[in-house]
Amino acid sequence: TEFATAHELADLMGVTPKEIIQHCFTMGKFVTINQRLDKETIELVSLEFGFEAEFVSEVEATEVVELEDNEEDLVIRPPVVTIMGHVDHGKTSLLDYIRSSNVVAGESGGITQHIGAYEVSLDGDRKITFLDTPGHEAFTAMRARGAQVTDIVILVVSADDSVMPQTIEAINHSKAAEVPIVVAINKIDKPEANPEKIKTQLSEAGVLVEDWGGEYQCQEISAKQGTGIDELMEKVLTEAEIRELKANFSREVPARGIIVEAELDKGKGVVSTVLVQRGFLKVGDPFVAGHTMGRVRALMDERGKRIREAGPSQPVSVLGFEDLPQSGDEFTVMLSDKEAREIAQKRQIIRREHEFRRSTRVKLDSIARQI
Ligand code: GTP
Ligand code: MG
Repeated sequence: TEFATAHELADLMGVTPKEIIQHCFTMGKFVTINQRLDKETIELVSLEFGFEAEFVSEVEATEVVELEDNEEDLVIRPPVVTIMGHVDHGKTSLLDYIRSSNVVAGESGGITQHIGAYEVSLDGDRKITFLDTPGHEAFTAMRARGAQVTDIVILVVSADDSVMPQTIEAINHSKAAEVPIVVAINKIDKPEANPEKIKTQLSEAGVLVEDWGGEYQCQEISAKQGTGIDELMEKVLTEAEIRELKANFSREVPARGIIVEAELDKGKGVVSTVLVQRGFLKVGDPFVAGHTMGRVRALMDERGKRIREAGPSQPVSVLGFEDLPQSGDEFTVMLSDKEAREIAQKRQIIRREHEFRRSTRVKLDSIARQI
């Protein structure tokens, strides 16, 4: 089989064809610019430049067939929100406040479990799902894996501080991902709070707030005292309405979601939080998730309460994985265990091949050094 030429491969990786040719030469292969390279060469060269070659035909075999949603099954769903901001600007305090006020207002207690995401209910049966992942890492890690789960970013900036490096980073990440930002200027209860200064600095960072004629909604809050939080939630919901976020709520389609986090529990085995994005996930469903598979043994909400099913935008703790998935892995319900196993096995084979190539490269390297 023939694949890309040295020139095409160079373009894909943003290097010069000369670099490709030179590298092939060090591997003992003499190639010209328009010569088609074989698979192994492409893989080795890609790795050398920090890329992992993906061969579509091979990957296709492991892709879960993506079904078209019927228009009438698409219904408005709760937005998925990530809170970002500089260290100590009050991200955790904001989440804690929203969560605790929701628990008080909502159902009966139970010990709150950390499942990396949770759903809050507001007046009028409106909901917001929060991803409770530490800072930007999770967001960027998921994005790097091609998973876009966040619909809206709440950018927390402390009114007694300034726009800081991580504030800028959060703005850049959100913009790159084309995720809308709602600004929360926090700690306005502090005497030294200066929200106007923050707005000025934000405008310099490319975020012009609405009351200054910009496109970004902004709310002054105190995560400590609860000031402005209801208004902030309203602004998030307004942003969500503008986007018309929808999902397939049919009970007939196989559920699909994204792994938010996963860990190995001594007693329970793999415990993973899945954010459902389509359909309803049910106990007993066979599934494939990244390189692993399983069958849903139990579903739990963030209070550890067993639930029978979970629908779109609902985060749920899932038991029944054979192995540990990675955050950002897609999670898809399959028709049978057999089908799930087939796909998981194919993916494992491909992964092993990649690892094998990597070790070959190391050997080639050391041989080259010996020479
Ligand atoms: P990291 O997770 O370390 O990045 O910090 P964070 O952004 O989660 O900040 P956190 O919520 O931990 O708050 C940092 C400090 O600011 C804590 O001492 C909070 O009590 C305090 N704080 C947060 N919000 C407010 C507020 O609205 N007013 C006042 N006065 N203090 C606040
Ligand atoms: Mg925190």
